[in-house]
Amino acid sequence: MFVMTKRQGRLFFILCTIATVVIFIGMTVHSHTRFSELTHAEKITSAVISGKHVWHNNNCINCHTLLGEGAYYAPDLTKITQQRGAPYLQAFLKDPSKFYSEKKHRRLMPNQNLSEDDINNVIAFLDWVGHIDNQGWPPRPITVSGAAIPGSGGGQPVKTTAASSDPVAKGEALFHSTPPACFACHSVSPGVNLAGPSLSGVMAHAATVIASSDYKGSAKTPADFIRESIVKPSAYLFPGPMYSANGQSFMPSSFAADLTPEQIDSLVAYLQTLK
Ligand code: HEC
Ligand code: HEC
Repeated sequence: MFVMTKRQGRLFFILCTIATVVIFIGMTVHSHTRFSELTHAEKITSAVISGKHVWHNNNCINCHTLLGEGAYYAPDLTKITQQRGAPYLQAFLKDPSKFYSEKKHRRLMPNQNLSEDDINNVIAFLDWVGHIDNQGWPPRPITVSGAAIPGSGGGQPVKTTAASSDPVAKGEALFHSTPPACFACHSVSPGVNLAGPSLSGVMAHAATVIASSDYKGSAKTPADFIRESIVKPSAYLFPGPMYSANGQSFMPSSFAADLTPEQIDSLVAYLQTLK
């Protein structure tokens, strides 16, 4: 067996320490040279800067994290603009108490009394943060809370790649991927309503809606209704003040453009299985 003498041991310690320090300094310097590229520094508009002041002046960080920094009382907001979209965030920041009940979620975000401008700027700031190139970190969304409401499946690792080419399996994997982050607003467990209604039993709900005389959309079958809900969310508005305002659904209306026809087909195929 090889045993180091005291002198060899000391030398080994010193050399390893020096090597570690050199590698650390080298990596730090390298990171610094890439900061403006990774953070898209050219996209730091005056709205982003004002939004950063709103973020600091209102101590959002005392409850929330960005990029893992901050307090772990409330949800991480690193990717929130991609998970929720601006119309939802505008309505939420105007009056958070409409969206969460203290009784049900055991905590509430106090109203920050932000002006319209403050709200738009802080959303611009959060959107800039959300587009920092973190080189794949975090590997899955940090669900400090919110999506981790018991029974929502939040916090559990979910499969985001489909094992087969079956449309239902592909749709399920896509539903749980970011983007499009459907799961950030929809649970598939009965009765668990997040930012969007639970999609458990969506086929039965669809059948009731299209049979009703109040329905103004153009779907003729429950499957068509699901497709319409994805590509034209405001065609029908699920009842409830936390789901829409002024005839506008809080579900992003960008999926028709951002998803391929095959992806939409697979989502429709998957959601039809949630009888
Ligand atoms: C920012 C939150 C949000 C995201 C992200 C989101 N939705 Fe929604 N979704 C909603 C809200 C709010 C409603 C209810 C208002 C309405 O009827 O449009 C809704 C409604 C629906 C409905 C109709 C449910 C019913 O019973 O009427 C379907 C289906 C649906 N979403 C599917 C999806 C799919 C699939 C995705 C991902 C591609 C997705 N949603 C992403 C918020 C979201
Ligand atoms: C006193 C703590 C506290 C402060 C300060 C606070 N929040 Fe929150 N916020 C919360 C809580 C709690 C929730 C979520 C409720 C839950 O998950 O049960 C929340 C949720 C949110 C959400 C997510 C809504 C959703 O449905 O996904 C956004 C966006 C948000 N806060 C933004 C902000 C901004 C911007 C500020 C500063 C202007 C701020 N918050 C300050 C406690 C706080």
